[in-house]
Amino acid sequence: MTINQVKSLESLALQNIRHARTPEELELLRVKHLGRKGDLTAVLRSLGKLDPEVRRHVGQEANRAKEALEAALDEALGALKAAARLAGTPAADVTLPGRRLPRGRLHPLNRIMAEVCDIFLHLGFETVEGPEVELDWYNFEALNLPPDHPARDMQDTFYFNDKVLLRTHTSPMQIRTMEVRQPPVRIIAPGKVYRRDSDITHSPMFHQVEGLLVDKGVTFADLKGVLTAFVHQMFGPELGVRFRPSYFPFTEPSAEVDIECVMCGGRGCRVCKATGWLEVLGSGMVHPAVFEAVGYDPETYTGFAFGLGIERIAMLKYGVDDIRLFFDNDLRFLRQF
Ligand code: DAH
Repeated sequence: MTINQVKSLESLALQNIRHARTPEELELLRVKHLGRKGDLTAVLRSLGKLDPEVRRHVGQEANRAKEALEAALDEALGALKAAARLAGTPAADVTLPGRRLPRGRLHPLNRIMAEVCDIFLHLGFETVEGPEVELDWYNFEALNLPPDHPARDMQDTFYFNDKVLLRTHTSPMQIRTMEVRQPPVRIIAPGKVYRRDSDITHSPMFHQVEGLLVDKGVTFADLKGVLTAFVHQMFGPELGVRFRPSYFPFTEPSAEVDIECVMCGGRGCRVCKATGWLEVLGSGMVHPAVFEAVGYDPETYTGFAFGLGIERIAMLKYGVDDIRLFFDNDLRFLRQF
């Protein structure tokens, strides 16, 4: 065995490796040249028969050839695998425009809620939030609604027990705020409220925004000014607004605010029940009994309060005639806003 013989064996093997087309062919070549009965293996085994001087040179050469073949086999196998991977992937057209993700949007109720709060924030009110599971004291008693007051019937209540209930309005936030602050107070309280009521204009859960302004010398004219500004920003500056006497236990005097019917422009239709007017919120001057419940002196301070329903405003603004549509989460409905 000579160095040249080793070299020609190596170059023949490298040529075979270069021509192999599959991993299986490569494996056969590995066996043929480097396997237990492989030709290069045979050379390495026969070194012992050579005389020492020749053995050293041929041995070195044979070991180098063995490493070269191993490296060539590994490289060829890697290349075949990479090619197979590429063949399985369709060519990418890098000139295609990117795929856009569908854009989310606010639920119509969240949108109206944000709009309402935004108007009052610009008028100088601050937002406060409080619990939906409420004590009878905050929801009723401190608001001048003692246990046997008939006006409790206006709000069919979900009770947990005698003292604990789901708040039926956001008015308890008036009490919670005045309890911990001194005037001047200028807050709005947005949130969820609950009543045992369900039909096309009532939902057992709905949203309200409560408002409260207390200071020295606050008058009914301030109430009218603030709420008229709100209605005009919400529904448009041209719209007619009227304040109609009403009753709430926590205000005296009380008024409900009506806007000209947005459906018929005031001529009278089914939505406004032929009156030409639509009720949008309740309001009034804070009752002295409410001030007493929180320790404010009714001789020193006066204030006004109001409460409005988000679903009702959304229905009027978007011309939706069934409140349940807001809670069905039908994308065909929601995508319209
Ligand atoms: N809490 C009343 C309701 O849910 C709405 C309301 C009316 C709130 C008059 C007020 C108010 O603060 O002064 O029906």
